[in-house]
Amino acid sequence: SLGLSSMLLLAACGEDSASSSSSVGGEAEAVSLRLAHNQGEDHPIHTSLVELTDLAAEKSDDSVEIELFPNGQLGDERGVIELVKSGTLDMAKVSASALESFDSNYSIFSLPYVFQSEEHYFNVMDNSEAVQEIFQNTRDEGFFTMGWYTGGQRSIYTADTKVETPADMNGMKIRVQESPTSIAMIEAMGGAPTPMSFGEVYTSLQQGVIDGAENNETGLTSNKHGEVAKAYSYTEHQYVPDVLIVSTSMWDGLSEEQQQAITDAAVESSESHKAVWAEAIDQAIIDAEEMGVTFYEIDKQQFIDAATPLHETYQSENEDSKRYFEDFQSYNE
Ligand code: GCU
Repeated sequence: SLGLSSMLLLAACGEDSASSSSSVGGEAEAVSLRLAHNQGEDHPIHTSLVELTDLAAEKSDDSVEIELFPNGQLGDERGVIELVKSGTLDMAKVSASALESFDSNYSIFSLPYVFQSEEHYFNVMDNSEAVQEIFQNTRDEGFFTMGWYTGGQRSIYTADTKVETPADMNGMKIRVQESPTSIAMIEAMGGAPTPMSFGEVYTSLQQGVIDGAENNETGLTSNKHGEVAKAYSYTEHQYVPDVLIVSTSMWDGLSEEQQQAITDAAVESSESHKAVWAEAIDQAIIDAEEMGVTFYEIDKQQFIDAATPLHETYQSENEDSKRYFEDFQSYNE
């Protein structure tokens, strides 16, 4: 399929490009949008993106078709963000951490222990104006974020030795996302951060290029890291949301009804994803244990103490960051 971006490109060459599909009153031109993500079809995010697709079709009377491209087949997260930004790809689901290199305001989502509980996290993501401001901020740069999905909590996992204190991570190469804040976090927590794209993690663990990684429990099962990493220590250092990004030029070419249908579908599927996620995590733990992974509950305090200075660093980063940080904390009541 050509996808909307290509249609817009073609339309731009024609004479009546300005009117292409933004109809007021008239019948909206049906669009087919391509959405990329890097997880497999057995991953809970894929389930919820299928839900998004169904809801968008239903709510738009079939005038919005979303086609999913899972498994990183259109590229790693940095790559698909570039494609969406340039308008070559319509949509992508990426980790908020991956957006940090495109707009530093996103670093707040990777700040360790910025959310004090799952309730706090959901409350911020669903209600905070700061979140909406950050999401809309890059509109003029070609893309923006229009929705979020929980990606649970991230913890450290290593080949065989559990990590109970920051000292245990001394000299350990821990893979992190390509996010400056995540790099700084592992450094502060005592390890040696090794940024790389998600698709490279399995082989790097297997070949001993890295000693460990950090992610939610589905990394062990859906991504098979549990075959090579057997000790999962609950540092619970981050809740990093998965976010839905869209190309601004694609979005502006939709009718208002189509935009509303996708917006509502994103909100609804984000809400149902919370239960989909919780169930998937319960199952991932059972499956990982069958693979020989052990889960360790640890005292997180030393990790919290080591990482918390990053909150100060973040707040002095730019003119908005202090306000964002305070807004996030105001939802912890
Ligand atoms: C999570 C997240 C992905 C991301 C991955 C990573 O699984 O949902 O979008 O790519 O973490 O650690 O890179």
